Formats: sequence, C-alpha cells, structure tokens
Amino acid sequence: MVIQSLTNERKRKVSVADLRAAVVREVGDAHALKVENDFPTPQLKPGQVIVKNKYAGINFIDTYHRKGLYPRDLPFVGGQEGGGTVAAVSDEAAKEGIKVGDPVAYSVFGSYAQYTAVPASKLLPVPEGVGLDVATSCVVQGLTAHYLTSSAHANLIKPGEWCLIHGVGGGTCQWAAQMAKLRGFKVIGTCSKGKADIAKSLGCDELIVLDEVPGASYEDYESVDIVSRVMEVTDGVGCKAVIDGIGKSTMDISINSLAHRGIFISFGNASGAVPAFPVLRLIGKSAYVTRPKLLDYTVDRAELVSRADEVFGWLKEGKLNVSVDRAFPLDQAAEGHIYLEAGKSKGKVLYQID
Ligand SMILES: NC(=O)c1ccc[n+]([C@@H]2O[C@H](COP(=O)([O-])OP(=O)(O)OC[C@H]3O[C@@H](n4cnc5c(N)ncnc54)[C@H](OP(=O)(O)O)[C@@H]3O)[C@@H](O)[C@H]2O)c1
Repeated sequence: MVIQSLTNERKRKVSVADLRAAVVREVGDAHALKVENDFPTPQLKPGQVIVKNKYAGINFIDTYHRKGLYPRDLPFVGGQEGGGTVAAVSDEAAKEGIKVGDPVAYSVFGSYAQYTAVPASKLLPVPEGVGLDVATSCVVQGLTAHYLTSSAHANLIKPGEWCLIHGVGGGTCQWAAQMAKLRGFKVIGTCSKGKADIAKSLGCDELIVLDEVPGASYEDYESVDIVSRVMEVTDGVGCKAVIDGIGKSTMDISINSLAHRGIFISFGNASGAVPAFPVLRLIGKSAYVTRPKLLDYTVDRAELVSRADEVFGWLKEGKLNVSVDRAFPLDQAAEGHIYLEAGKSKGKVLYQID
C-alpha cells in the first residue's frame, strides 16, 4: 500500500505495508483492545499530514473510550496522543512549512497505529533537545498540567499562596506539581508510598505520603487526615486552589481543604466519577468549582502552540523533569491499559510502535 504526498515537490511515496493498529470493535475490558495487522491505512486529505508513529501515549480517557464510558462509533483505533515523523504532507500543510521527516507530536484520535492522519493545525513540531517520547507524553498530560496551573484556577490563586495537588506521583500531576512551583505557588502534594521517591523530586513544599489501598498500587485517602494536615501547613487558611484528578475518593477532602474563595479544580476521575453535590455546599467558603477539559484550553492553534512552546521551553532549559515510566510494545496493547488502570504508573505510559 502507498501513501502519496499531494505536493509536486514532495512526490515522495511512502510504502506502508500491513498497517498495524490496536483496535476496539466491541467495548469491554482491556482485552477489547485487539492488535490487527490489516487495518485500513489512513488516506491523506487536504490540510493533513500522515505521521509515522514511534510512540503513542496511553491515557485514562482511552480506557473510558474502550469501556464505553465515553461512547465512540465502533470500530475505532484506540488512543489520541502520538509522536513520530511526518511521512506525507498535503499542499496546505506544506505551505505551513511542514516537511517529510519532521519530528512531531499531536493529539488526535487513532494514535495506537503505525500511521495516523493528523490535521496540520494539530501538529506540534518537536524542538531539538526534546526527545520524541517526552514530547509525546507532553501532548495530553503536559498540556493539561499547563492549563491547570496557568488558567483553570481563573487567577483565584496568586504566587506565594497554597495549592493542593493530589496524586503527584502520577502522570499529569508530576507535571502539574513542577509547573505550579514554576508559577510561584506553594504546593502540597499527596502521593502513595510506592511513588514517594518520584514525588520527592518534584519540589513540593509539603508532601503527604499515604498508605496504599491493600492489594492495589494507589493511595488510601483515609490513611492520613489530609484536611487537618493541610490546615496545619497553611496556618488554618487552606488552599486557594485544589487540583484533583482522582475524583470520587478525594472530592470531600478537596472541598474541605479549600481556603475562602478558593477553587476546586476537578479535572479527572482516576478513582471513579465525582458524585453530584449541592451547590449550597460551597457557601461555607464562598468557594468555586470547575470541571475543565484540555480541548477547552487549546481552542485554536495559537493557544495550543503557545502552551506547547512554554512547556517545550521549560523542558529544554531543564526546568521540568518528566519520567516516562514504561513503554509497552504495541503488541501488548491490553497489558498497557491494565497497567495504567491498576494505578501502577509512576509517570507516562507509552506504546512503542516501531
Ligand atoms: N480534564 C482533562 O483535561 C484531563 C486531562 C488528562 C487527564 N485527565 C484525567 O485525569 C485523571 C488522571 O489522569 P493521569 O493521566 O494523570 O493518570 P495517571 O498518570 O495514571 O495518574 C493517576 C494517579 O491517580 C492515583 N490514583 C488514585 N486512585 C486511583 C485509582 N483508583 N486507580 C488508579 N489510579 C488512582 C494514582 O496515584 P497514587 O498512587 O499516588 O494514588 C495514579 O498515579 C484521569 O481520570 C484522566 O482521564 C483529565
């Protein structure tokens, strides 16, 4: 099979034999993700490029799609975060200066595959000095951490004030803890014992290390009285922002740890969805709550690129330390999801495609 660039100048043909992809045909557990060797190759359309993937990021949202929690049309190629090199370029993309061979990262559906069609507007050129694995890790978790620490708090927290971040041993919040420090906030992090080594390297002002749930690899949020500790550390003031990707297990702790006019930023549900609660509950502290998502903080190319530029800049300057925890071969697609869902990851989990 052949992908052909649309440009005269780039009439370079890219041989694509046996496109391999991890595909969901029926929703279900991790084994619903099946590796197929003959999935139809994406065709280059105007405005797009074809990326030959080297890595695909594994994110919790991929498990929600696989399970049907966030429904998608079937069948679909899993994943929505990838990194690799440009294999073919449309005329429109060529006009933007994109060339075959450029190292790039992106977030669009269908990254668990050898090749993915990506609109040029979604492409992030990977600068020299940033590895493709780290750049791939950045697209969802890094940019999420960026908007959480720069925008989602609606400036209700100022430099020098306290912020609480749960699960700083995990993917997004390892980035978020470091970025919150770069923004000048004082940071209290929580993490499980098994991830304390990584969490200690992030520069949190206070780290609350929790026992693990027996038989699991994630935090037991009842093993320490987090709210009392937060109030002690903050001299009874509480935190002006709480960044919470854990969800069900931490919602009460998060709201109770807020300062007056603080904001509860509930961005994820690693432990299960946050249950409904009465708005009146916020009256005690005139608190704010937001449930943001990355798409709403990368609304156009300018916003996407400006966030990525700042993150890639910090990486190049050595101000951010990102750990890629594991890279599973794509053939072990199910194992990658099982590992992430067990809460075992200490940073980014990837598939290595080739
Ligand atoms: N809204 C957005 O824009 C956005 C963007 C990215 C991710 N998210 C969401 O945010 C959440 C976290 O994503 P992530 O990429 O940071 O995940 P991750 O790298 O796997 O980190 C999640 C951490 O949560 C902790 N955890 C606590 N209870 C858990 C449980 N029952 N099962 C698994 N982990 C548990 C674990 O750390 P400990 O061992 O320290 O407990 C784990 O390391 C997910 O729900 C994801 O969908 C939202």
